[in-house]
Amino acid sequence: MATIYTEDILIEKAKTSKINDVDFNNLSFGSTYTDHMFVCDYENGKWQTPKIMPYQPISLDPSSKIFHYGQSIFEGMKAYKDAAGDVFLFRPLDNFNRMNISAKRLAMPEMPEAYFINGLKTLLKIEKDWIPTAEGSALYIRPFMFATGKGFHASPADAYKLVIAFAPSGPYFSGKVNVLIEEKYSRSANGGVGFAKAGGNYAGQFYPTQLAKDKGYQQVIWTDDNTHEYIEEAGAMNIFVRINDTLLTVPTSDRILDGITRKSILTIAEAEGIKTEVRKIKATELVEAAENGSLKEMFGAGTAAVVSPISGFGYKGKDFELPELENTFGQFLKKKITDIQTNKSEDPFGWRVKV
Ligand code: PLP
Ligand code: COI
Repeated sequence: MATIYTEDILIEKAKTSKINDVDFNNLSFGSTYTDHMFVCDYENGKWQTPKIMPYQPISLDPSSKIFHYGQSIFEGMKAYKDAAGDVFLFRPLDNFNRMNISAKRLAMPEMPEAYFINGLKTLLKIEKDWIPTAEGSALYIRPFMFATGKGFHASPADAYKLVIAFAPSGPYFSGKVNVLIEEKYSRSANGGVGFAKAGGNYAGQFYPTQLAKDKGYQQVIWTDDNTHEYIEEAGAMNIFVRINDTLLTVPTSDRILDGITRKSILTIAEAEGIKTEVRKIKATELVEAAENGSLKEMFGAGTAAVVSPISGFGYKGKDFELPELENTFGQFLKKKITDIQTNKSEDPFGWRVKV
């Protein structure tokens, strides 16, 4: 295939497209991939020429350090297409910056903004026909980086691969989510890597989440590792709680991911005159509020999950149902944020980036 250079990116186009095999009205989350991917290798102390190539398997030496010591980080972003066919990203520099925060914590090389942002935009221009427009769907963007450098020595690798892959996706959750407030296991600890989007953070959650699923819950709400008294976040979302007419979420820390949806929701809520509080929340405060009727709603917020309402929670062997409200903060804020993301409304905060 013809090989051309654009903005210093080597581009190799796929011979055929898979796009006609895709049912864009029935997309699940993150399981269909587009025709191309962006790849950039870090070798000999520097980032090499980035490439866009047909989506394909990656072959690695068995001694590559990703397999042994788990140097692996990722990001989650979305691209949206409006009625006129224009393509938008949402706060992409925040994802880029967070990817480098994760890289630093995992002793991996930070990447230059130009490679990440230009690579992403160039790939998006090539794959724009893959951006779904059905309600609740978007093109999910998964940038990730892992250690390709070889050796069984337990030390940082000397080579890495950055990949950006796209998955046209429907909603992450199909309905309301029932959550279990965790009392035994921890997602992260003080001084650990909880604030980073490190692959291992998710691997460590699967077993306790499976135990919760076996009991009929879809997600775990993690609590602080020290006392297990304070709620922190869910497996893939930050948590919001409405007590009477105040919207609460917990402060970020080195145990909690600084979610881009979380901070956007807080900004929108404040601009809309909703009273917000960012403070520690005890699980027992939720129990009391559920019992006295002041707990009106709970929802999770994240790129994949957008705003996902929580139907109820389990804690210390008891289940607490949330009321079915007509007009929720969750629905209101979800519409506000998705209207900004999809160019259906003004963007007073300057978050939308046209590609
Ligand atoms: N918390 C965790 C553990 C996550 O994996 C995510 C998803 O990215 C979030 C919170 C939400 O972050 P964001 O809104 O930046 O997607
Ligand atoms: C996202 O919301 O983009 C995430 O990265 C969560 C992921 C675990 C699906």
